[in-house]
Order: sequence, then structure tokens, then C-alpha cells
Amino acid sequence: MRRRYIFLALLLVFALAGITYFVSPLGGPSRNLNLTGDVVRGEYVIRVGGCVACHTDIAGGGAHLAGGLPLKTPFGDFVPPNITSDKQAGIGGWSVAEFSDAMTIGVGPGGKHLYPSFPYDSYTKMSDQDIVDLYAALMATEPVPQRAAEHSVGFPFNIRLAMQGWKRLFFTPERYEPDADRSGRWNRGAYLANGPAHCGACHTPRNLFGAALKDQHFKGTPSGTRPFFPAIDSATLKDRGYDEATLVDALTGGFDPDFDTLGGAMGEVINESLVHWTKEDLSALAAYLLDQD
Ligand code: HEC
Ligand code: HEC
Repeated sequence: MRRRYIFLALLLVFALAGITYFVSPLGGPSRNLNLTGDVVRGEYVIRVGGCVACHTDIAGGGAHLAGGLPLKTPFGDFVPPNITSDKQAGIGGWSVAEFSDAMTIGVGPGGKHLYPSFPYDSYTKMSDQDIVDLYAALMATEPVPQRAAEHSVGFPFNIRLAMQGWKRLFFTPERYEPDADRSGRWNRGAYLANGPAHCGACHTPRNLFGAALKDQHFKGTPSGTRPFFPAIDSATLKDRGYDEATLVDALTGGFDPDFDTLGGAMGEVINESLVHWTKEDLSALAAYLLDQD
């Protein structure tokens, strides 16, 4: 029954995609990719971006960034591919422009539309410098000549062109624009949370098509839903008893206000990303989270 509902809903997406196809070009802001990439900064962006958590089979001891475990979704299983510098199995043959398009508009070389299980709806907010640094760091990775497994998604989700319709309906390419009324620290926190660190990939509820509900930013999923993601809007975090210091502590593996450590998917975000952040970035993140509106 649910499958049928999803199928009908997808047909609707196809139809709407047909209608909107010619009227809304999916360009996004133009990017300056002539900047000089810095490998060391890029390695930090890899950590902030949480690329390792998805693109490495950590449990199986797989090679760094050579492909991850399948992500199970209602639409099928998506396997994060090999993004090492190998020219055939990885992305070593990609230009910086091709890489930037994948990260910011979800289009791979040859116009291949990428699935939003790769959170480019957040990465689109990344700065040009971060994209260029990320590219430099990925090109400096050890090439791993083995391709990751194929996705296992059934009809009609296996038609990549359908993603074009999805994007036209639900995705707007945009670079993060600082809020001039806020401090540099607040803007850094907002950039990290909504761009590279893609906190909304889990903490913002999604519609039937897997698109973020923008008016429910960081509002989490209703209690009882599986998987459950708690709300991390400012009011909820303050109600929970967090201040900046305790939030940074919880986000780096310490205790939350209930004297528990955060586990499950959040444990992975902590271990593969947040523990590697600088003190300044963690405190900027916490400051922003507690003062979002
Ligand atoms: C939540 C899991 C997840 C995270 C986090 C993630 N990716 Fe991915 N990524 C995927 C999946 C799944 C795909 C496959 C998408 C597809 O086939 O359409 C993918 C595809 C890609 C591709 C396209 C590769 C190709 O061969 O087409 C690139 C490049 C990429 N990711 C880079 C990154 C970088 C860099 C980061 C960190 C900043 C990152 N990803 C973080 C899941 C993730
Ligand atoms: C892959 C999914 C995922 C991502 C990405 C993610 N989280 Fe979480 N987060 C969770 C889950 C699941 C929990 C609940 C963990 C638990 O209760 O053990 C959680 C819990 C939390 C909590 C505790 C809330 C409370 O009520 O105590 C905070 C704070 C939090 N996340 C912040 C963040 C921030 C900030 C980011 C981005 C840097 C982020 N999360 C990214 C899945 C995620």
C-alpha cells in the first residue's frame, strides 16, 4: 500500500518535472574555482563534512574514502562510492569544476544527476574556498583501484533523470550568505551547521520525497518515529538545559544534560567529525545553535 502511494507520488513528480523543466533553469550562483587549494585545510573540511562516516566502510576496516556501507532508505539502498584519487574507480579523473558541480548542484560528469542521499542540499552552501580545498585534499588521497558496489534501488527510483524533477521541485543551489547583523562567530557556526556539517540531513524533518521541510528547520522528528532524530532548535536545546559549554561537551563525546552520551547515528557524527573540529569552530557551532532565530 505504502509502496503504491510512493509510486503514485513519484509519477506526480515526473509530471511536474515535465511542466517545470523548461521554465526553471538549475544553475545556482557562479563559482570562482581559480583559487589555490590547500590540502591540509581540505583534510579538515573532509572531517567537518563528515565524508568519512559515509564514504568509508569503517566497521569492515575498508580503505579511507574507498566506498561505504549501503544507506538504507525507503527508496532503496544507496552505496556511497569510492571518492579516492583513483582515476577509474574513484574521482581522480574529475576536474575541479566537475567536483564543484557534484557538491553544489548534485550533477556528476556527463550530466549524471546524483541522488540526494548524498547531502548536496547542504553542501551547496559551502564556500568556493572550501570546495577547492576539499578537491585538493581528495586528489591527494591514496588511490584505491576498487569500485564500490552498485546501488540497489528498484524502478522508478533507478532512473536518474527523475532526480532532475526532484531537484527542480525541492532543491535550490545557494552559497551561504553571511548575515551582516550577526557576529563573525555566529556566521561561522551557521555556515558549519547548515553547509559542510549538514546537521539538517538528520535533524530537519523530510517530506514523502525525502526533501527537507524548510519551515521545520532542525525541528527533529516526532517522538516515536523510527529512526528518531531529536529537535535541535534553540528553544528545545535551552529547555533541555544546554548552555554553550555543556553543548560543546555533549557534541564531543561528553555527557548531555541527562548524563548520557549521545549514541547511534550521532555517535558516528561525533567520532568521525566533531571530535576533529577546532575549539573555535565547536564554540561557534554551539553559539549559533543556541541563538538561531
Ligand atoms: C550521508 C552520507 C554521505 C555523506 C556524509 C557524504 N556523501 Fe558523498 N555520496 C553519498 C552517496 C550515497 C553518493 C552516491 C550518490 C549517487 O550515486 O547519486 C555520494 C556521491 C558522492 C560523489 C559523486 C561520486 C561519483 O562517483 O558519482 C562525490 C564526489 C561525493 N559523494 C563526495 C563527498 C564529499 C567530499 C563528502 C564530504 C564533504 C561527502 N561526499 C559526504 C553519500 C554521502
Ligand atoms: C546521521 C544523522 C545525524 C547527523 C548528521 C547529526 N545528528 Fe545530531 N543526533 C542524531 C541522533 C540519532 C541523535 C540522538 C542521539 C541519542 O539520543 O543518543 C542526535 C542528537 C543530537 C543532539 C542531542 C539533543 C538532545 O536533546 O540532547 C544534539 C545537540 C545534536 N544531535 C546536534 C547535532 C549537530 C550540531 C549536528 C551537525 C554537526 C548533528 N547533530 C548531526 C543524528 C544526527
